[in-house]
Amino acid sequence: MKREIIQTSDGSTTIHLPEWNENYHSKHGAIQEAKHVFIKNGLSLFEGKSVSILEIGFGTGLNAFITYLEALKFNQSIYYVGVEAYPVSFEEVAQMNYISELDAKKDAAIFQKMHQAEWNANVKISEKFLLKKRKIYFNEIADNQEFDLIYFDAFGYRVQPELWSTEIFRKMYEALKNDSYLVTYAARGSVKRSMLEVGFSVEKLEGPPGKREMFRAYKK
Ligand SMILES: C[S@@+](CC[C@H](N)C(=O)[O-])C[C@H]1O[C@@H](n2cnc3c(N)ncnc32)[C@H](O)[C@@H]1O
Repeated sequence: MKREIIQTSDGSTTIHLPEWNENYHSKHGAIQEAKHVFIKNGLSLFEGKSVSILEIGFGTGLNAFITYLEALKFNQSIYYVGVEAYPVSFEEVAQMNYISELDAKKDAAIFQKMHQAEWNANVKISEKFLLKKRKIYFNEIADNQEFDLIYFDAFGYRVQPELWSTEIFRKMYEALKNDSYLVTYAARGSVKRSMLEVGFSVEKLEGPPGKREMFRAYKK
Protein backbone atom coordinates (compact mmCIF):
# COMPACT_ATOMS: atom_id res chain seq x y z
CA MET A 1 0.00 0.00 0.00
CA LYS A 2 1.26 3.47 -0.86
CA ARG A 3 2.68 5.47 2.07
CA GLU A 4 3.38 9.21 2.16
CA ILE A 5 5.11 11.32 4.78
CA ILE A 6 3.06 14.25 6.08
CA GLN A 7 3.37 16.81 8.86
CA THR A 8 0.87 16.93 11.73
CA SER A 9 -0.36 20.06 13.55
CA ASP A 10 2.34 20.02 16.26
CA GLY A 11 5.07 19.96 13.58
CA SER A 12 5.90 16.24 13.93
CA THR A 13 5.74 13.93 10.93
CA THR A 14 3.65 10.84 10.38
CA ILE A 15 2.86 8.37 7.59
CA HIS A 16 -0.32 8.82 5.57
CA LEU A 17 -2.05 6.01 3.65
CA PRO A 18 -3.86 7.70 0.74
CA GLU A 19 -5.88 4.60 -0.20
CA TRP A 20 -7.42 4.46 3.25
CA ASN A 21 -7.13 8.16 4.06
CA GLU A 22 -5.61 7.02 7.36
CA ASN A 23 -2.55 8.18 9.34
CA TYR A 24 -0.12 6.41 11.67
CA HIS A 25 -0.79 9.13 14.26
CA SER A 26 -3.30 11.89 14.92
CA LYS A 27 -3.17 14.65 12.32
CA HIS A 28 -3.62 17.03 15.26
CA GLY A 29 -0.13 16.15 16.48
CA ALA A 30 1.74 12.84 16.44
CA ILE A 31 4.02 13.62 19.37
CA GLN A 32 1.27 15.25 21.43
CA GLU A 33 -0.96 12.22 20.92
CA ALA A 34 1.76 9.73 21.86
CA LYS A 35 2.65 11.67 25.01
CA HIS A 36 -0.94 12.06 26.13
CA VAL A 37 -2.37 8.61 25.36
CA PHE A 38 0.55 6.32 26.03
CA ILE A 39 2.83 8.20 28.42
CA LYS A 40 0.61 10.39 30.60
CA ASN A 41 -2.23 7.86 30.78
CA GLY A 42 -0.10 4.71 30.64
CA LEU A 43 3.62 4.68 31.35
CA SER A 44 3.46 7.31 34.11
CA LEU A 45 1.40 4.92 36.28
CA PHE A 46 4.53 2.82 36.80
CA GLU A 47 7.02 5.34 38.16
CA GLY A 48 10.22 3.76 39.49
CA LYS A 49 9.31 0.26 38.32
CA SER A 50 10.27 -2.33 35.73
CA VAL A 51 7.61 -2.23 33.05
CA SER A 52 6.93 -4.74 30.28
CA ILE A 53 5.07 -3.14 27.41
CA LEU A 54 3.33 -4.68 24.41
CA GLU A 55 2.78 -2.30 21.53
CA ILE A 56 0.15 -3.07 18.94
CA GLY A 57 1.66 -1.51 15.86
CA PHE A 58 5.37 -0.58 16.15
CA GLY A 59 5.15 1.50 12.96
CA THR A 60 7.55 4.46 12.93
CA GLY A 61 8.91 3.64 16.39
CA LEU A 62 7.68 6.97 17.77
CA ASN A 63 5.96 5.43 20.79
CA ALA A 64 8.98 3.27 21.51
CA PHE A 65 11.37 6.22 21.29
CA ILE A 66 9.21 8.49 23.47
CA THR A 67 8.92 5.64 25.97
CA TYR A 68 12.71 5.39 26.07
CA LEU A 69 13.04 9.14 26.73
CA GLU A 70 10.28 9.28 29.36
CA ALA A 71 11.45 6.13 31.15
CA LEU A 72 14.71 7.94 31.91
CA LYS A 73 12.68 10.59 33.75
CA PHE A 74 10.42 8.08 35.53
CA ASN A 75 13.42 5.91 36.49
CA GLN A 76 12.01 2.80 34.86
CA SER A 77 13.52 -0.23 33.18
CA ILE A 78 11.60 -1.25 30.11
CA TYR A 79 11.01 -4.48 28.24
CA TYR A 80 9.31 -3.33 25.05
CA VAL A 81 7.69 -5.73 22.60
CA GLY A 82 6.56 -4.04 19.41
CA VAL A 83 4.38 -6.07 17.07
CA GLU A 84 4.43 -5.08 13.42
CA ALA A 85 3.54 -7.04 10.29
CA TYR A 86 4.49 -4.35 7.76
CA PRO A 87 7.75 -2.68 8.88
CA VAL A 88 8.47 0.83 7.66
CA SER A 89 11.58 1.19 5.53
CA PHE A 90 14.84 2.89 6.55
CA GLU A 91 14.12 5.58 3.94
CA GLU A 92 10.80 6.34 5.60
CA VAL A 93 12.33 6.38 9.07
CA ALA A 94 14.96 8.81 7.83
CA GLN A 95 12.20 11.25 6.87
CA MET A 96 10.67 11.31 10.36
CA ASN A 97 11.61 14.45 12.30
CA TYR A 98 11.23 13.01 15.81
CA ILE A 99 14.82 13.62 16.89
CA SER A 100 14.59 17.35 16.29
CA GLU A 101 10.96 17.74 17.40
CA LEU A 102 11.69 15.91 20.64
CA ASP A 103 14.94 17.82 21.08
CA ALA A 104 16.68 14.46 21.41
CA LYS A 105 19.86 14.86 19.39
CA LYS A 106 21.93 13.14 22.02
CA ASP A 107 19.71 10.05 21.72
CA ALA A 108 19.59 9.92 17.93
CA ALA A 109 21.62 6.71 17.98
CA ILE A 110 18.97 5.08 20.18
CA PHE A 111 16.24 5.72 17.60
CA GLN A 112 18.49 4.25 14.91
CA LYS A 113 19.31 1.26 17.02
CA MET A 114 15.62 0.57 17.53
CA HIS A 115 15.05 0.50 13.79
CA GLN A 116 18.14 -1.53 13.04
CA ALA A 117 17.34 -4.08 15.73
CA GLU A 118 16.90 -7.60 14.48
CA TRP A 119 13.32 -8.88 14.30
CA ASN A 120 12.04 -11.54 16.70
CA ALA A 121 15.00 -11.21 19.06
CA ASN A 122 15.64 -9.41 22.34
CA VAL A 123 17.97 -6.49 21.63
CA LYS A 124 19.55 -4.39 24.34
CA ILE A 125 19.01 -0.78 23.28
CA SER A 126 20.47 0.64 26.50
CA GLU A 127 21.23 -0.46 30.06
CA LYS A 128 17.54 -0.12 30.94
CA PHE A 129 15.72 -0.69 27.67
CA LEU A 130 15.32 -4.12 26.09
CA LEU A 131 13.46 -4.26 22.77
CA LYS A 132 11.87 -7.11 20.90
CA LYS A 133 10.26 -6.31 17.56
CA ARG A 134 7.97 -9.14 16.53
CA LYS A 135 7.08 -9.44 12.87
CA ILE A 136 3.76 -11.18 13.21
CA TYR A 137 0.07 -10.39 12.71
CA PHE A 138 -1.89 -9.14 15.69
CA ASN A 139 -4.18 -12.16 15.57
CA GLU A 140 -1.15 -14.41 16.10
CA ILE A 141 -0.44 -12.93 19.53
CA ALA A 142 -0.80 -15.64 22.16
CA ASP A 143 1.04 -14.33 25.23
CA ASN A 144 -0.14 -15.23 28.68
CA GLN A 145 0.25 -12.87 31.67
CA GLU A 146 3.40 -11.26 30.25
CA PHE A 147 2.80 -7.53 30.19
CA ASP A 148 2.10 -4.63 32.57
CA LEU A 149 0.93 -2.26 29.88
CA ILE A 150 -0.41 -2.45 26.33
CA TYR A 151 -0.21 0.45 23.90
CA PHE A 152 -3.11 -0.40 21.60
CA ASP A 153 -2.25 1.69 18.55
CA ALA A 154 -3.85 -0.11 15.60
CA PHE A 155 -5.32 1.81 12.67
CA GLY A 156 -8.81 3.09 13.30
CA TYR A 157 -12.03 1.12 13.44
CA ARG A 158 -13.16 2.73 10.18
CA VAL A 159 -10.41 0.95 8.21
CA GLN A 160 -9.61 -2.16 10.30
CA PRO A 161 -12.72 -3.00 12.38
CA GLU A 162 -11.52 -6.61 12.77
CA LEU A 163 -8.67 -5.39 14.99
CA TRP A 164 -11.10 -3.80 17.46
CA SER A 165 -13.00 -7.03 18.04
CA THR A 166 -13.78 -9.06 21.14
CA GLU A 167 -11.43 -11.74 19.82
CA ILE A 168 -8.46 -9.35 19.73
CA PHE A 169 -9.25 -7.79 23.12
CA ARG A 170 -9.44 -11.29 24.62
CA LYS A 171 -5.87 -11.83 23.41
CA MET A 172 -4.89 -8.50 24.94
CA TYR A 173 -6.51 -9.42 28.26
CA GLU A 174 -4.69 -12.74 28.32
CA ALA A 175 -1.36 -11.13 27.45
CA LEU A 176 -1.60 -8.80 30.48
CA LYS A 177 -0.58 -9.66 34.04
CA ASN A 178 -3.02 -8.95 36.84
CA ASP A 179 -3.24 -5.29 37.94
CA SER A 180 -2.28 -3.92 34.57
CA TYR A 181 -3.53 -1.56 31.86
CA LEU A 182 -4.28 -1.17 28.17
CA VAL A 183 -4.40 2.35 26.75
CA THR A 184 -5.73 3.41 23.36
CA TYR A 185 -6.66 6.61 21.56
CA ALA A 186 -10.07 5.17 20.67
CA ALA A 187 -13.35 5.90 22.45
CA ARG A 188 -16.05 4.04 20.52
CA GLY A 189 -19.00 2.32 22.19
CA SER A 190 -18.52 -1.05 20.48
CA VAL A 191 -14.85 -1.10 21.50
CA LYS A 192 -15.79 -0.50 25.13
CA ARG A 193 -18.36 -3.32 24.96
CA SER A 194 -15.73 -5.75 23.64
CA MET A 195 -13.32 -4.70 26.39
CA LEU A 196 -15.97 -5.22 29.06
CA GLU A 197 -16.98 -8.56 27.58
CA VAL A 198 -13.49 -10.03 28.01
CA GLY A 199 -13.19 -8.83 31.62
CA PHE A 200 -11.64 -5.36 31.55
CA SER A 201 -13.02 -2.42 33.48
CA VAL A 202 -12.92 0.67 31.29
CA GLU A 203 -12.35 4.35 32.06
CA LYS A 204 -13.10 7.14 29.62
CA LEU A 205 -10.41 9.80 29.88
CA GLU A 206 -9.91 13.16 28.24
CA GLY A 207 -8.46 12.65 24.76
CA PRO A 208 -5.32 14.17 23.22
CA PRO A 209 -5.62 17.49 21.37
CA GLY A 210 -8.26 17.18 18.65
CA LYS A 211 -9.98 14.13 20.21
CA ARG A 212 -12.55 14.41 22.97
CA GLU A 213 -12.06 11.09 24.68
CA MET A 214 -9.95 7.96 24.93
CA PHE A 215 -10.11 4.66 26.82
CA ARG A 216 -7.98 3.08 29.49
CA ALA A 217 -8.84 -0.53 30.28
CA TYR A 218 -7.80 -2.20 33.55
CA LYS A 219 -7.26 -5.88 34.29
CA LYS A 220 -7.71 -6.64 37.96
C1 LIG B 1 -1.49 3.39 13.78
S1 LIG B 1 -0.09 2.55 13.13
C2 LIG B 1 1.01 2.41 14.51
C3 LIG B 1 1.84 3.62 14.76
C4 LIG B 1 3.00 3.36 15.66
N1 LIG B 1 2.58 3.02 17.00
C5 LIG B 1 3.98 4.49 15.65
O1 LIG B 1 4.35 5.02 16.74
O2 LIG B 1 4.41 4.86 14.57
C6 LIG B 1 -0.70 0.87 13.02
C7 LIG B 1 0.37 -0.15 12.69
O3 LIG B 1 -0.19 -1.45 12.67
C8 LIG B 1 0.40 -2.19 11.60
N2 LIG B 1 -0.56 -3.25 11.24
C9 LIG B 1 -1.74 -3.11 10.60
N3 LIG B 1 -2.41 -4.27 10.54
C10 LIG B 1 -1.64 -5.18 11.19
C11 LIG B 1 -1.81 -6.57 11.51
N4 LIG B 1 -2.92 -7.24 11.17
N5 LIG B 1 -0.83 -7.19 12.20
C12 LIG B 1 0.31 -6.52 12.57
N6 LIG B 1 0.52 -5.20 12.28
C13 LIG B 1 -0.44 -4.54 11.63
C14 LIG B 1 0.61 -1.17 10.52
O4 LIG B 1 1.60 -1.57 9.61
C15 LIG B 1 1.00 0.07 11.32
O5 LIG B 1 2.39 0.17 11.48
